Amino acid sequence: MLAHTDGPDRGVLTPAEQERMARFRRPSDGEDFQAAHLLIRTCAARLLRVRPGDVVIVQRCSTCGGPHGRPEVVGHPDIGASLAHSRGLVAAAVGSAPVGIDIEAFPPAEGLVAGDLSAALTVAEIRAIDSAPDRSRAMMLAWVRKEACLKAGLVDLDGLDSFDLSALPLDPPPGDMAVRSLEHAGWAVHDWWDGRAGAVGAVVAPAGVELQLASA
Ligand SMILES: CC(C)(COP(=O)(O)OP(=O)(O)OC[C@H]1O[C@@H](n2cnc3c(N)ncnc32)[C@H](O)[C@@H]1OP(=O)(O)O)[C@@H](O)C(=O)NCCC(=O)NCCS
Repeated sequence: MLAHTDGPDRGVLTPAEQERMARFRRPSDGEDFQAAHLLIRTCAARLLRVRPGDVVIVQRCSTCGGPHGRPEVVGHPDIGASLAHSRGLVAAAVGSAPVGIDIEAFPPAEGLVAGDLSAALTVAEIRAIDSAPDRSRAMMLAWVRKEACLKAGLVDLDGLDSFDLSALPLDPPPGDMAVRSLEHAGWAVHDWWDGRAGAVGAVVAPAGVELQLASA
């Protein structure tokens, strides 16, 4: 599930989240963080049929134990949850299976080319992007898919440049606002494209898991 929303009141964020939010130097980045962390509660609340304020999100880094990393819904270890925030855009996904989501602003930062993402993309992916009719769209699609796979747990950071999704099409979905569902090795990769908002995103979940889109 993904959306733009103001969400529930920021008072529902945990002290750890509030502390992290206060550390952003740019106020707009803190606002993005807050919106994403509220949105994930809205998504979880819809799935669990509870109020957003009743959802507690915890993050514990598997490397250092700090309060960051994959979000978990307290009391629901079987539920997958993921969020992303980028330059005024936020997205979240929650489901009864592992899920991963990413969102990025489009167009990308000036001068960014596929070769700059060589730590995250395979050689075949970079080649496919470089031969796509619209390289910057292709690059952003490839990037958000890869990050969504990382967050869903299909691949870890060290394996990104050998985890190959180059068989998936890189032309943007048709229309100003579109969702396209693809499959890779038993996983569904949902592309999400919103030309008006200037956003490209991807959601990854096991194939067969139904995707419900929500926006506000
Ligand atoms: C996953 C990652 C690539 C996403 O970064 P990004 O593109 O800058 O940011 P996005 O907005 O797309 O996603 C950030 C969200 O991904 C989630 N996330 C972070 N690490 C995650 C992981 N390992 N698995 C799943 N989700 C993760 C968090 O919810 C995070 O949001 P938050 O920082 O507001 O809590 C980045 O967070 C990363 O590289 N993490 C691993 C780094 C690491 O292991 N650090 C150890 C520090 S001790």
